[in-house]
Amino acid sequence: MTSFASCARFPMIVAAIVVALAPVAISQTGFAQERIDPAKVVGRATCKKCHAAEQAAWERSSHNLKAWKNLEHPNAKDFAKALDVADPKTAAACTSCHGTRRRHEGQLVIAQGNSCESCHGAAGGEQGWLNIHSDFGLGRKVTETTTMAELLADRGQESSGHRDARDAACDKAGMNRSGNAFRIARNCLQCHSVPNEKLVAAGHPMSTRFEFVEWA
Ligand code: HEC
Ligand code: HEC
Ligand code: HEC
Ligand code: HEC
Repeated sequence: MTSFASCARFPMIVAAIVVALAPVAISQTGFAQERIDPAKVVGRATCKKCHAAEQAAWERSSHNLKAWKNLEHPNAKDFAKALDVADPKTAAACTSCHGTRRRHEGQLVIAQGNSCESCHGAAGGEQGWLNIHSDFGLGRKVTETTTMAELLADRGQESSGHRDARDAACDKAGMNRSGNAFRIARNCLQCHSVPNEKLVAAGHPMSTRFEFVEWA
């Protein structure tokens, strides 16, 4: 049905690759979430126009309900201190994993919680995947009045050659597609394995709990 209902099989994939990936992630200086360019994040209001069901499922998820609230948790102060951060709610060191950073009209706007693009990758910008991923090669120009039904009908007529080219273009543009299970799971781990030694040393929770968690 929706992203979160269909996420049910993910914990198993994640558990299977967590051991292989965690050491790699820890040795990197800037992990994927920190490398997301806020100028390329369009924000979930844009996604909602076409993906209302996924938005509704997301609203019920921990990524919306709990991720930001963690920054008010009593332990947050200790973790902030470990990274020399004065305010967890404005510092990229915390908000890259507990929020979604977006540059809008020159201002940095930090949305609360992990939004669509925290998982699927920043969508905007000239080479962004936003327009590519819903262009099925039939020449339709998407406007305010284009409906999802029209787009799905287009998708039904897409040639397999175009489909392959579209998938490749989306991958290149940084999309974590639901069709690319390894890449999307690797992105989960970029947050959940917490590749920051100072944070982990200060007691910040990491992947061990995540491996056994049920994703409903
Ligand atoms: C103009 C409408 C439109 C907008 C805006 C839009 N999408 Fe889509 N999206 C589609 C269509 C059409 C599909 C293909 C239908 C499907 O796979 O269910 C799709 C498919 C997807 C898929 C699955 C495709 C795959 O190959 O894995 C994801 C994930 C996705 N969109 C995420 C997003 C996110 C995140 C945003 C906001 C940044 C967004 N979409 C904005 C129309 C749109
Ligand atoms: C690499 C991503 C990442 C970074 C960076 C990060 N967090 Fe977290 N944080 C998480 C994840 C994922 C969880 C949930 C872990 C779980 O429940 O298994 C979490 C959980 C927490 C919790 C839950 C409290 C607890 O002890 O159970 C607090 C508080 C918290 N983070 C605060 C912070 C603060 C403050 C910062 C910045 C100094 C920060 N985090 C930076 C990913 C991150
Ligand atoms: C915590 C990470 C995460 C967040 C946040 C997230 N998604 Fe997803 N999404 C996934 C995963 C994982 C899948 C693949 C599920 C599967 O195929 O089993 C997925 C699948 C999808 C699909 C394809 C659904 C289908 O049935 O094929 C769309 C569309 C989508 N997401 C849109 C969104 C939108 C819009 C948002 C924001 C409102 C969002 N996602 C937020 C992880 C996420
Ligand atoms: C941008 C960082 C980020 C990404 C990417 C991310 N998560 Fe999370 N996730 C969090 C934070 C922060 C929380 C809130 C922790 C809490 O529940 O206290 C969380 C919560 C969860 C929870 C609920 C844990 C609980 O104890 O309630 C599950 C399950 C989960 N994430 C699975 C996933 C999966 C699966 C993916 C990839 C499809 C993913 N996450 C991607 C940061 C992230």
